[in-house]
Amino acid sequence: MAYRPLSAVVLAAGEGTRMRSPVPKVLHPICGRPMLLHVLDTLVALPLDRIVVVVGHGAERVTKMVQEQLATEIPIEFVEQRVQRGTGDAASVGLTAFADSLDADDDVLVLTGDVPLLRPDTLAALATEHRLAEAAATLLTVELDDPTGYGRIVRDERGGVLCIVEQADANDAQLGLTEVNPSIYCFRRAYLAPALRRLSPENAQGEYYLTDVISVLRSTGHAIFAVTGDDAAETMGVNDRAQLAAAEAMLRGRINEAWMREGVSMSDPARTYVDAGVELEPDVQLLPGVILEGRTAVGAGSVIGPDCRLVDTIVGERAVIQQTVARESEIGDGATIGPWASLRPGTRVGADAHIGTFVETKNADIGEGVKVPHLAYIGDAEIGPRANIGAGTITANYDGRNKHRTKVGADARVGSNTVLVAPVEIGDGAYTGAGAVVSRDVPPGAMAKGVPARIEEGWAAERDAADDGSDEST
Ligand code: UD1
Ligand code: CA
Repeated sequence: MAYRPLSAVVLAAGEGTRMRSPVPKVLHPICGRPMLLHVLDTLVALPLDRIVVVVGHGAERVTKMVQEQLATEIPIEFVEQRVQRGTGDAASVGLTAFADSLDADDDVLVLTGDVPLLRPDTLAALATEHRLAEAAATLLTVELDDPTGYGRIVRDERGGVLCIVEQADANDAQLGLTEVNPSIYCFRRAYLAPALRRLSPENAQGEYYLTDVISVLRSTGHAIFAVTGDDAAETMGVNDRAQLAAAEAMLRGRINEAWMREGVSMSDPARTYVDAGVELEPDVQLLPGVILEGRTAVGAGSVIGPDCRLVDTIVGERAVIQQTVARESEIGDGATIGPWASLRPGTRVGADAHIGTFVETKNADIGEGVKVPHLAYIGDAEIGPRANIGAGTITANYDGRNKHRTKVGADARVGSNTVLVAPVEIGDGAYTGAGAVVSRDVPPGAMAKGVPARIEEGWAAERDAADDGSDEST
């Protein structure tokens, strides 16, 4: 068989009214990645000659998102469907991208942008069957216990596909059909284009239905072929928030299973949430309630959880992180974090450092082996290796107008409840006393004792004498 190019047209111009959202439907994230990117990931995994996306509602946002977030070898082409007149019209608009094509004979996969669970193998098999059958159109079909909302596949007495009837146009007998159209097709482009021109919007929704192409092709004597998929879940379309959640649960299951096969332990996969863009090394252990988002990466042997949310955070090897929220942070090898720590953007925790309970950090470079065990705020700071930051220490980094930096030297010991009034520098090996308010630089090896309390000797006895010694409290 001569080489025939294969391309794809993705219909993604619709508003997705059932989402009830100002965000175009295909931009809603599933496991941290916009729905449309899941579909494009599937296409990019295939050998395709072109990928065309039909955009309309929120066209600019959709186009920009794809351009920014999808790195591909074949560039994604966009065409705009200005008015959404139905899937048939959208497909026609999609084919305008091929106007310059010199290929007389090629095949086009047409699918919608709302099938995030579709796998590359399924599309590849559809294209192969289409070519083997030498069909004008090949459609994927699935059997559903509840076919509500989908177009129904109507077959003739010999089992051939006659047409697809939309829910809104179906009679009672057709409504009872359980074989449905997930809207995933492969067409000979040379036959698709003229068939699209013969569509009319005389139907319940007043739209140009792509589905009508099947009966048009059939009535003009072309061969229609159907491939029945064995995994109905894979082709589920996302139209509302409930389906969005269902799709996310399924995708999460796939992601978790793939990581477990790669050597990641999950004590309760049903309560483990790993975004599509996360990277995990073997022997990572994820405890219940862990949410790993965005570009988070975790090194070998680290134990995360329970109840952690890490966003765009890079964790080294053998780190232990409990009950922690971290965003845009880096956590070094062997570091221990939490329970109950908040690492805000720009936090870098060195190897073997410890950030303990009720500690908040932000834009802070915390050196190797540093200990910040309890109740502290470290912001806009650089803490030298092995320094110890006592309980209750804070960096007073904001003077009401500007943020200032604090620098603590190597091996320094900052006493409990020290206030470091930035800009300020504590030298290597220097000490601060409990409760010190340090607003001037402390030289290396020095001690800064702060705000000593005034001592009034005999105060209690004097008070007792003044109020005749009775204790009125109960
Ligand atoms: C469509 C099919 C239906 C199938 C179902 C599967 C038609 C007429 N019906 O119905 O048989 O069971 O998908 O999910 O095709 N779109 C555009 N431009 C438009 C209209 C739609 O780009 O003018 C895009 C949408 O963005 C969406 C896709 O086409 O991604 C499907 O549109 P939607 O309105 O969801 O079609 P359904 O009513 O679900
Ligand atoms: Ca749909």
